[in-house]
Amino acid sequence: MAVAIDLAGSTAPASTARKRTVTARKAAHTERETEAVPSLGGPLEPWWKLVPRRYGHVLHAMCSYMGMFPPALPRYFIEQYTQPGDLVVDPFSGRGTTALEACLLGREGVGVDLNPLAALLTSAKVDPPSREDALARLRELEKSYSKKKITEEPPPEIAMLFDQRKTLPQLSYLRERLEPSLRREDRFILAAITGILHGNHPRNPWDSRCLSVSMPNTFSMSPGYLRKYIRENKLKKYPFDAFEKIAQRIEHLYQEGVAPVRGRGAQDDALALGNHVAKNSAKLVVTSPPYLNVVRYGKFNWIRLWMLRESVQRVDASLADRTRTNLEVERTDRQLGLSDRLGFRKYTTFLEQAICRVAEVLRDDGVCVMTIGDVENGEYDKRLGLDAWAAIEKRVPLKLQTVIADRLVTENKVSRIWGENKGRATRVDRVLVLTKGDAMPAANFADPREIVRKMAELTPGAMRSIPDEA
Ligand SMILES: C[S@@+](CC[C@H](N)C(=O)[O-])C[C@H]1O[C@@H](n2cnc3c(N)ncnc32)[C@H](O)[C@@H]1O
Repeated sequence: MAVAIDLAGSTAPASTARKRTVTARKAAHTERETEAVPSLGGPLEPWWKLVPRRYGHVLHAMCSYMGMFPPALPRYFIEQYTQPGDLVVDPFSGRGTTALEACLLGREGVGVDLNPLAALLTSAKVDPPSREDALARLRELEKSYSKKKITEEPPPEIAMLFDQRKTLPQLSYLRERLEPSLRREDRFILAAITGILHGNHPRNPWDSRCLSVSMPNTFSMSPGYLRKYIRENKLKKYPFDAFEKIAQRIEHLYQEGVAPVRGRGAQDDALALGNHVAKNSAKLVVTSPPYLNVVRYGKFNWIRLWMLRESVQRVDASLADRTRTNLEVERTDRQLGLSDRLGFRKYTTFLEQAICRVAEVLRDDGVCVMTIGDVENGEYDKRLGLDAWAAIEKRVPLKLQTVIADRLVTENKVSRIWGENKGRATRVDRVLVLTKGDAMPAANFADPREIVRKMAELTPGAMRSIPDEA
C-alpha cells in the first residue's frame, strides 16, 4: 500500500498541518505517544518511515549488526536539529549509524560502545583511511604472508567453517598481524573482514563475497548447531583467496566516497561518556540503549570476535554487567518473565545513569533522541521505553517532549531464525525525544517532507511515492 504523501508537494494546507501538529502534541501529552503515519504533521513524527528502506551510504552496511536502526532515523534528527560543524553523539553506537550519518552531513559524529565489534565498526566508518592507503596496506600484508609466520592454531569450531589449505591460514595470519589499535588502515581492513567473514553463497559459490561455508551473515549460529548443519547439508569449504575478497570488499566500501568530516569511535561504557565528550558540547544525541538483554552481542558474534581476538564470554559478561543485569539475573528474568522486578529495576537504574551522563555532555539547546524497543514475552506486553521513563523521569535532568511510536514492519530476525519468536521480540520502538531546556529548539525544516525528499533522491532507484507499512 502506498502512503498518501506526495513528496513533490504538500499533502494538506499549512493550517491543517498546524492543526495536526497541535493535535499530535496534545495527544503526546496525554498519551505520551504520537502515532505513526498517516497522521504526519509536525517535525516530531516518524518522517523517516517514508524514506525508502534502501536509503543509506554503502559504509553503513559494512557489517550487519543486531539492533541497528535505519540510517534515515538519525539523519532526520540531524537535519532537523543541527548545523554543519555541530557535535552529534551516540553513547550506544552499535555499528555506528548515528556517528557515520553525522559525518556524512558535515557534523562531527562520535560513537561510544562497550562491545569491541561495535567500537571497531564505528571507528572504521567515521575515521577511515584513504582507499589507496587501505589497499596498499592490504597488498603489503599479502606480500609478507607466509603460513610459517602463524603462531596460533585456530580452534576446531573456527576450522570447520573455512577452507584449511588457503582461506583459514590467510585469515589466521591477518588476525595476528593487523594492529587495529595502532593503524587506521588495519582498523578499516579488520572491520571490512567482519562484514565478509561469513555469509550465504549465491548459486555459483565462487561468486560469493564471503569467506566461510554458506551460512547466514547477520549473526553467528552456535558452534554445535553449525557443526550439525554443515554435516547434514554436506556444505563444502571453498578455497577462497581472502586477500582477493578483502580487496574487492574495500573497493566496494569506497564506491560512494568518504564523509567530509572525521568523527571518533571509542570502546567504553556509556557511563564513561564524559571521557570522550566534553561537557555541554553535543547538540544532538541519537541513540538506542540495549533492551533488557534481549540480544547477546557476544554470543551472536563469536566468529567475528575470534577474528578480533576477543572472548565471547568477556564481551557478554561485560555488557551484561554494565547494564547491571548479569547473566544469572538474565536467566532468572527469562524464567520469571519480564515482570521480574529485579531485572526491570536494574535496567531503569542503568538507563537513569546513562541519561544523566548524556545530560552532562548535552548543550543547553541540545536534543536527545532515544529509541527503546517494546519487549514482548507472551503474557506481558512491556512498553519498556515508556515504563522505564515513568520510573526515572523525576530523577533525570532531561524533559520528555514526545514519544514517537515506530512500528516495525518485519519481525525480529534473530528471534525468527532461532525459532524463539514466542519469547522476547521487539514489536514497536518508542522514540523518546528529550531536551535539556523546557522546549524543543526550532526545527530547521518547516516542512519535513524536504528532508524525506532529499533522502529519497539519494536512494538509487527510489520511487517518489514511498510504500507505507500501515
Ligand atoms: C540497540 S544496540 C545499538 C545499535 C545502534 N543504534 C546501531 O544502529 O547499530 C545497543 C548497543 O549498546 C551496547 N551496549 C550495551 N551496554 C553498553 C554499555 N554499558 N555501554 C556502552 N554500550 C553498551 C551494545 O553493545 C549495543 O551495541
